[in-house]
Amino acid sequence: MRIDVVTIFPEYLGPLDLSLIGKARDSGLLDVGVHDLREWTHDVHRTVDDTPYGGGPGMVMRPEPWGEALDALAPEGGARLVVPTPAGQVFSQAMAHELAAEPRLIFACGRYEGIDQRVLDHAASRMPVTEVSLGDYVLFGGEVAVLVMCEAIVRLLPGVLGNADSLAEESHANGVLEAPVFTKPPEWRGHPVPEILRSGDHGRIARWRRDEALLRTAQRRPDLLAALDPGILDKRDVAL
Ligand code: ADE
Repeated sequence: MRIDVVTIFPEYLGPLDLSLIGKARDSGLLDVGVHDLREWTHDVHRTVDDTPYGGGPGMVMRPEPWGEALDALAPEGGARLVVPTPAGQVFSQAMAHELAAEPRLIFACGRYEGIDQRVLDHAASRMPVTEVSLGDYVLFGGEVAVLVMCEAIVRLLPGVLGNADSLAEESHANGVLEAPVFTKPPEWRGHPVPEILRSGDHGRIARWRRDEALLRTAQRRPDLLAALDPGILDKRDVAL
């Protein structure tokens, strides 16, 4: 997969060099380019913003540098443009899977009050454009949202995680939260590890994990439970 990020703060994307994302890059599973939007400005002040038409507070990112950046990075399309904005569709594990299946993503990080809408409308004539929100709150800009999305996407790429089984068990993989986890020692500060996890009975352990996962989901995220496909529940789950 190839990911390009366009931003006025390239240093913000430094963590893309680190940890498992950095390792995915080193092993050739992922190719990342971070670009300074100001490279596509032509005035001495390298201006990227201006006052909003119609009035109102703040500044809006001008279309020209964005247009040139996208022309340079994807002259014939061939990529999906992802624009983080609090006005977008809410990011989810399903969306992470969808984006992980793309060969090429371009993230456009807006700042201030956002990017002139014509940039997105024009880009949509040659590539799919998706506006994505991390949640119902407002960040200073899209950079941190891009880091979050890249982490969620890159860990789904085949070969990135050492043990692909961890993807199947984790929260949101099957629409529920994952069960709590424990490691050694068997007792710590008066808190024992649930006996069943030390029983070696894999059938009972799987049953316990599923019950705990459903219980947690019911307590913490009833919205997820309500959205579950009833087909994935079995008789013992329904009794819960
Ligand atoms: N930019 C500013 N706020 C944001 C949010 N909540 N999600 C994605 N991008 C943003």
